[in-house]
Amino acid sequence: MSTAGFPATRLRRLRRTSRLRSLVRETRLDLGDFVMPLFVCPGDGVVHPLEGLPGIGQRSVDALVDETEKLVALGVSAVLLFGIPEEKDEEGSGAYDEDGIVQRALRELRARFPELVLATDVCLCEYTSHGHCGVVHGDEIDNDASVELLARTAVSHAEAGADTVCPSDMMDGRVGAIRAALDDSGFEQIPIVSYAAKYASAFYGPFREAAESTPAFGDRRGYQLDPANVREALRECELDVQEGADALIVKPALPYLDVLRAVRERFELPVGAYNVSGEYAMLKAAAQAGWLDERQAALESLTAIKRAGADFIVSYWTKELAEWL
Ligand code: PBG
Repeated sequence: MSTAGFPATRLRRLRRTSRLRSLVRETRLDLGDFVMPLFVCPGDGVVHPLEGLPGIGQRSVDALVDETEKLVALGVSAVLLFGIPEEKDEEGSGAYDEDGIVQRALRELRARFPELVLATDVCLCEYTSHGHCGVVHGDEIDNDASVELLARTAVSHAEAGADTVCPSDMMDGRVGAIRAALDDSGFEQIPIVSYAAKYASAFYGPFREAAESTPAFGDRRGYQLDPANVREALRECELDVQEGADALIVKPALPYLDVLRAVRERFELPVGAYNVSGEYAMLKAAAQAGWLDERQAALESLTAIKRAGADFIVSYWTKELAEWL
């Protein structure tokens, strides 16, 4: 600690020019830390824009390939796939169908982009007719029955070419079940990036339009974390680490920077943050109204997420960021 106070010490000296500020900057954004979410839907030549997620669309496999081509040319190194199936049913069977929408997309992308990191969201909510993240028995989400289906989903993603699977359902025991299922199928090299601390958040609003996954009844508070709790989030992380998670994700990001910092300090694993749809939509809307500068506000938000401790960030700004950096 320096002992001298003002006037010997003047912190403004190192802020005088942009070059000086650059020398002492503590946090930098690197495109290699970013993951771009992509939504794949049925059809051919489809690019369906999403009102709440400007610039992000649902794309059929062929259109997804074109978009990915652009991302790769811009230097993006990782994408996270979400699927909108042809049909939904009670058991979410489209999630683990070997010919499901994400599996088809994976095969196409794998063949064309051997180096791109292909990550997949492992959850049932986009595939169930009721929109919950697990199977419903009575008025309960049946944990253990859901876990079995999630493990099948993860294996089918690995078979189709995924580099990593990201369970986002918040069922108890899913990381251990997915690890065992992957290992049994010869995928001991596929890491599990677990959404360990996923909150029951209002900030997923635009995503649910994109993924067509709004629950038909009730909400997700019976399985996602209570926004008021941080110690419970650390217990979730602890269990996922014990079950074999290779990296942890905190989600959402901006309203949960304290959680991100706490997870960063407690665990040695890589920690990611999901800068979710509502965080993106808020800035897009404010920028559209002329109330703030989108680029500045986005860069500041992403820097804050990194400063709080994220090693990697899932963000809808990844493509624009590639152009900005
Ligand atoms: C699936 C899932 C959700 C998001 C990612 N995976 C939605 C939810 O749990 O309701 C949200 C992502 C975003 O808002 O950008 N369970």
